[in-house]
Amino acid sequence: MEEKINKYINDINTLTFSNAQDVDEFYKKYLSKRGVLNDLFSQFKNLSPVEKKKTGKLLNELKTTALTKFKSYKIGEEQVKKKSIDLTLPGNYQSAGGHHPLSQVKRQIIEIFEKVGFKITTGPEIEDDWHNFSALNMPKNHPARDMQDTFFITLDPDILLRTHTSSIQIRYLENNTPPVRIISPGRVFRKEDISARSHCLFHQIEGLYIDENVTFSDLKKMITYFLKSLFGEKLKTRFRPSFFPFTEPSAEVDIYWGLNSDTDYKITKGTGWLEIMGCGMIDPNVLENLKIDSTKFSGYAFGLGIERITMLLHQIEDLRLFFENDLRFLKQFRI
Ligand code: DAH
Repeated sequence: MEEKINKYINDINTLTFSNAQDVDEFYKKYLSKRGVLNDLFSQFKNLSPVEKKKTGKLLNELKTTALTKFKSYKIGEEQVKKKSIDLTLPGNYQSAGGHHPLSQVKRQIIEIFEKVGFKITTGPEIEDDWHNFSALNMPKNHPARDMQDTFFITLDPDILLRTHTSSIQIRYLENNTPPVRIISPGRVFRKEDISARSHCLFHQIEGLYIDENVTFSDLKKMITYFLKSLFGEKLKTRFRPSFFPFTEPSAEVDIYWGLNSDTDYKITKGTGWLEIMGCGMIDPNVLENLKIDSTKFSGYAFGLGIERITMLLHQIEDLRLFFENDLRFLKQFRI
């Protein structure tokens, strides 16, 4: 009897079902009323106690083997029926989010300055008159304040939304002494009509470097290094004399982008040149406002708009797209 049982176990283990009919036959042969198992169990009853001990274990093994085989097929069959699983279909991927194009470009810019030792600092968006204007050599009634139409958010004319990230220079210098080398990204606000080219909200990055013997050529070297790192070694740049109350001398920096597309025409107003940032040597009045000895220390500062650079890099004609959160637009920048 043992030999027989061993043979059955072996048969079952090597058996594969190819269709439902095979399974039915299997059931009939092993598990049905007149099947092998029932037959063996009735023979088992007549065995002597010694033989029972030997065969019982084996017989139980045959029973579990047969049942497992049968169930494994049934379970698989039911799952397929219930869920109609098509194992050849691709899985359901979770779609991952991405960074906003402005954040991506901000990151790129910051990385370039971090490489040469600039440290990131930030400041508040709600500012006071001193940090946004007066300390930056723009006293009350200074005509230069007109360049930056301001949002006053309470009846108190001292409280405002910062119009530029230059206010962070002042915040930082109140608590730190030179040498300083910082880069400060942030949102800024101006009371301007919203159009394809201007918005009441945009993003800037401010840079500040103060030490002994800093000269305009250090500024020029740093800006050129930055622009070439971002736009490529072959980039043509030019520094144009300009005016900012907090720097003397002041300059604006243009890059030659060229006129390769309609978008280039629009963004550069048909010239191929685009103004990219303001910069200059920190006015000694600003240093003195912060109790920094302007006979010992000098420095440079610069400020750039992230939107403009992003528009150029990604050929975006309308500034408003950045702020509408339209997924069809944003998805194009997912990396
Ligand atoms: N704050 C200026 C603006 O928003 C940009 C600027 C110009 C920043 C010259 C500077 C600078 O730090 O030196 O228009």
